[in-house]
Amino acid sequence: MPKIIIANWKLNPATLAEAEELAKASDVEGLVICPPYPFLKAAAGVVKKSQLGAQDLFWEDKGAYTGEVSGSQLKDLGVKFVIIGHSERRQNLGETDEMVAKKIAATLQDGLIPILCVGETRAQRDAGETKEVVARELKTGLSLIGNCLPASEAGKLKTPNQNKFGTGQVKNLVVAYEPIWAIGTGTPDTPENMLEMIQYIEGIMNELGIMGTVVIYGGSVTSKNAESFLRHNEIGGALVGGASLNGEEIKAIVKIAEKYN
Ligand code: PGA
Repeated sequence: MPKIIIANWKLNPATLAEAEELAKASDVEGLVICPPYPFLKAAAGVVKKSQLGAQDLFWEDKGAYTGEVSGSQLKDLGVKFVIIGHSERRQNLGETDEMVAKKIAATLQDGLIPILCVGETRAQRDAGETKEVVARELKTGLSLIGNCLPASEAGKLKTPNQNKFGTGQVKNLVVAYEPIWAIGTGTPDTPENMLEMIQYIEGIMNELGIMGTVVIYGGSVTSKNAESFLRHNEIGGALVGGASLNGEEIKAIVKIAEKYN
């Protein structure tokens, strides 16, 4: 499975012209570019090698939901991936695990690939609560997955009709472990801790009966430290914020990832 690098532009850049320029400068195979909604169409028109992602979606398809954007609208623009439950949304907008669960279900229902973000705050890490937090975010965030299965698959569920997890039916799911204290701080987690967290996350995915999840790392990844993470087979890629706002920098990270494909 080739490594996947996700460029999360967040609320950047300021103008359409800059967004087009950045998309052009970043365009490389193995990269998923996630611009703000207003720049998605322009980015889709510019990129030839990268894939397109969105930074969020809403769980309903249409209706009276001011300000929201649906999975089918995103799909129509050529979006393939959707970041769900980023800690900045959880912290700034009060996004809960229950909301995340609905968004994950909607993403899968629309045939898009969710990138579920999980991770603890500095205080939670210091209190030794990291695994507890990640387990809750995963178990609640993925609790509606059984709902997204087509009827023909529903009979294969461990506990059909109870909103429980599918047994290996979900093939396209990315989990991004992003310790909140490492995001945008210039201080990434250690690869050793990431490997321990991957093992833990995979254990939970097994428990849930969800197979083949790709687990990636996020938090202050740059071309300088990317290799220390990406050289490990277990680490499926990286979610990159700040460093993705520079075309040369993100391409350098993708190049490092390619070495280990
Ligand atoms: P960062 O952001 O690379 O700027 O730390 C990562 C993220 O928030 O996904």
